[in-house]
Amino acid sequence: MPRRILVLLAHPAHRRSRANAALRRAAGEVEGATLHDLYETYPDFLIDVDREQALLREHDVIVLQHPIYWYSCPAILKEWLDLVLEHGFAYGHAGTALAGKALLSAVTAGGTETAYGPAGLNRHSLADFLRPFEATAHLCRMRWLPPFIVHGTHLLDAAALARQAGAYQALLRELREAPAAPRPAPPAAAAGRA
Ligand SMILES: Cc1cc2nc3c(=O)[nH]c(=O)nc-3n(C[C@H](O)[C@H](O)[C@H](O)COP(=O)(O)O)c2cc1C
Repeated sequence: MPRRILVLLAHPAHRRSRANAALRRAAGEVEGATLHDLYETYPDFLIDVDREQALLREHDVIVLQHPIYWYSCPAILKEWLDLVLEHGFAYGHAGTALAGKALLSAVTAGGTETAYGPAGLNRHSLADFLRPFEATAHLCRMRWLPPFIVHGTHLLDAAALARQAGAYQALLRELREAPAAPRPAPPAAAAGRA
């Protein structure tokens, strides 16, 4: 059975977006993928936790798609993480709702790969800046997938953007068809949390 994909979109100004708009269009063409625009749904940041948790339960692959803002995600996604991934739902002894699901960060960054190299302006790779998301996946017993990263967005012309969008679409299709992973055993550290 195809896996159900939920794409959580977090871009505060979609009308000014080039990169995320292209990725969003590509994701929208993947059969059965649910696109969920957080800024559009919650312009006042009043997140409906029950609705979001129900959406998470209904899907197997959760994609966090957003531009990199200040080495992290736009504010609404942080709010979403803070409120939706509750103890007893997403983590903790009884919090097994997300166990075995996959988490994919699909991000766009103004900085080039060189700027995210050891000698570059940002000194660390984007994979390093995404560690909090990786750790979140681990705590929630989810499978952390290698992130999909579009670097140097300001330098990409229409053809380059279209190639990136095509690669993203192909990845989502692949994830849709991939066999479901077995549910992992709870990590010892997930039972309690400081
Ligand atoms: C508030 C803000 C913060 C940003 N912070 C970063 C950053 O930390 N690292 C980076 O590489 N690019 C940063 N950028 C550039 C965006 O990542 C880039 O414009 C975006 O990925 C392009 O996608 P879009 O066309 O969908 O808007 C920032 C942009 C804004 C507006």
